[in-house]
Amino acid sequence: MQPTDLRKVVKDVVVSFQPDAARRGVNLKSEVPDTPVEVVADRRDLNLMISNLVDNALKYTPQDGEVTVFASLEERTAILEVRDTGIGIEPRDHDRIFERFYRVDKARSREMGGTGLGLSIVRNIAVSLGGRVSVESLPGRGSTFRVELPTGEEG
Ligand SMILES: Nc1ncnc2c1ncn2[C@@H]1O[C@H](COP(=O)(O)OP(=O)(O)OP(=O)(O)O)[C@@H](O)[C@H]1O
Ligand SMILES: [Mg+2]
Repeated sequence: MQPTDLRKVVKDVVVSFQPDAARRGVNLKSEVPDTPVEVVADRRDLNLMISNLVDNALKYTPQDGEVTVFASLEERTAILEVRDTGIGIEPRDHDRIFERFYRVDKARSREMGGTGLGLSIVRNIAVSLGGRVSVESLPGRGSTFRVELPTGEEG
């Protein structure tokens, strides 16, 4: 655990998924501020958390779609958002998708090689850092996953 600039991890993840995005015909990009977004965390945990969200966003977004990763600071909270223009998630599934092994459409998810563990890992990491994760989604339009993490700043 050490002070880590979320912008750097976002950039690393976006670079590492660029070939996957290109293969799928999805435009993957990041938007981050000019100033650091520092959180106290294990860098590998942050990388795993963001990677799982980007992996999902790419998997569940059809060709010609967009996936954007945002990092920002709100007061003393670091915000990470992964937004996609993909298939979306029905409201009734919003709570359950964070459970281990839960997949919305088991047949399709298995086709995609999914085990239903990604989002439970995301939530575990967010909670272990004193934060939380939430989702907003419109079926057929897209999804936004939002992670809020304390920055560790005093006051
Ligand atoms: N960005 C997204 N858009 C639409 N559906 C999503 C998105 N992210 C997750 N889901 C739904 O939530 C389910 C759970 O996601 P999770 O990442 O836990 O599992 P997975 O992607 O199926 O498998 P794994 O991550 O273990 O490879 C998915 O099966 C999918 O139905
Ligand atoms: Mg996943």
